[in-house]
Amino acid sequence: MALYIAKREGFESKEDMGLLIIIISLMGVVWFWYKMKKMMRKEDIGINKSGGSGGGGVVPKGNLGWPFIGETLHFIASGYSSQPVSFMDKRKLLHGKVFKTHLLGTPIIVSTDPDVNKVVLQNHGNTFIPAYPKSITELLGEHSILQMNGNLQKRLHALIAGFLRSPQFKTRITAHIKSSVVSTLGSWQHMQVLLVQEETKKITFEVLVKVLMSVGPGEDLEFLKREFQEFIKGLICLPIKFPGTRLYKSLKAKERLLKVVKKIVEDRKLAMEEETDEKSMAKDAVDVLLRDSSEEPSSDQIKQSLPLDFISGNIIEMMIPGEDTVPMAMTLAVKFLSDCPVALQQLMEENMELKKQKKECGEDYSWTDYLSLPFTQNVISETLRMANIINGVWRKALKDIDIKGYLIPKGWCVLTSFISVHMDEENYENPYLFEPWRWEKIGAAANNNSFTPFGGGQRLCPGLELSRLEISIFLHHLVTTYRWVAQEDEIIYFPTVKMKKKLPIKVTPLCNYQ
Ligand code: HEM
Repeated sequence: MALYIAKREGFESKEDMGLLIIIISLMGVVWFWYKMKKMMRKEDIGINKSGGSGGGGVVPKGNLGWPFIGETLHFIASGYSSQPVSFMDKRKLLHGKVFKTHLLGTPIIVSTDPDVNKVVLQNHGNTFIPAYPKSITELLGEHSILQMNGNLQKRLHALIAGFLRSPQFKTRITAHIKSSVVSTLGSWQHMQVLLVQEETKKITFEVLVKVLMSVGPGEDLEFLKREFQEFIKGLICLPIKFPGTRLYKSLKAKERLLKVVKKIVEDRKLAMEEETDEKSMAKDAVDVLLRDSSEEPSSDQIKQSLPLDFISGNIIEMMIPGEDTVPMAMTLAVKFLSDCPVALQQLMEENMELKKQKKECGEDYSWTDYLSLPFTQNVISETLRMANIINGVWRKALKDIDIKGYLIPKGWCVLTSFISVHMDEENYENPYLFEPWRWEKIGAAANNNSFTPFGGGQRLCPGLELSRLEISIFLHHLVTTYRWVAQEDEIIYFPTVKMKKKLPIKVTPLCNYQ
């Protein structure tokens, strides 16, 4: 999960890149010292000198690289190239699908093996915990769903996932997503050139804030947008906290956010206490968490109320995984479709047919309409496979664990590399080609270990279905409203997937063609 967050800040200029390398190297030095001190204590690692654990498995082969910086610079350089998996591919050839290396200041075992990734993600026996750099842990707070473990994480996860998956929620949110998409697309009519990466963010932030706390367009939304941007700037920075530093400014922004969100939560709690209709449906994540606290405990467990501070903090922290991922998936769908006119044509025909049907019967769209178009769903799966918005997650082993004969020693980090699995010829023929048609054959394999854009196991993204719905609605209205010409642009994969120029396009209304 660490990379999830670490990869969300964009560094678009060369100076930014240089700065990032310096920062990471410095962090590496500090972190390496810290790790070395820990590693000296043999019992912390739990392996003997020959690398065995006594359990049969062996520590994967590999190279720890240079003192202090390990192989970090190669890792970053490949992220900036058009072949972001070249770092993994090279080591896979030398050492096998699971290898050890040293990245961003920590010795780490990298897995490009879907079966090993599955075991790590399932996390039976709670062997693994999320691993984050210090700046991220500072900003998240220990009670964030993103870094908490055990029963509370499971409870929170189940509550949010259950709510976001429910048909009642999808029915309601579909109307909001549609209205946000249609109004944003409407504003494109008079733009000479627009940046897809920016425009899609407008849609998805509005939807996210609606989903979490029912804040609609207006001053509060603008405030949340502004302060949240300030807050997330600190997710990747030096972990130094005094006035003027990046981390300090981000923590201050979080305080301001918390004040506003806490007020929303408190008001809602008051309203809930006065409410007479006990069976009314939760309208957002705040409601879901408040209601859980007020429910009667079941016979076999004493359920403690979730404190209001805990709820407010988690609402803010849940904005992190939702904020940048969906607009990037939308942007990359536009990019891949621009480069593949045959797929775009088929997508347009399928969606035009739905639009025609809806016009004829005079009904509004339901969420099932949007998700019923098979080629559109294949376009989305193929986009997610190639986009690798979350290219892998980081975990730390709490004890020695043997997976498929590989020993992951206690205290070591593991990176489950989704991007390597998605771009591996063994799993996908011509992996670098955008081929939505491949999903007609793969079909059910969308659920297998080789397709994990949303992670898996215990922490499988609760926003999975919402994300697919948002992208479907966006694509439907885009391809049935406009044609577009995209300017030359490049995908950058480090530290987060981004378009170098934010994907500029020029649109022409479709009615001009009819
Ligand atoms: C294309 C869009 C998205 C992608 C690719 C994505 C991907 C992921 C992945 C890979 C994880 C697992 C992280 C881990 O195992 O540590 C995750 C977790 C999570 N995602 Fe998403 N996500 C997306 C959209 C969203 C949205 C829209 C929301 C919120 C409404 C959301 C909320 C969360 C939360 C709360 C978690 C943490 C779950 C837990 O640790 O129990 N995500 N996401």
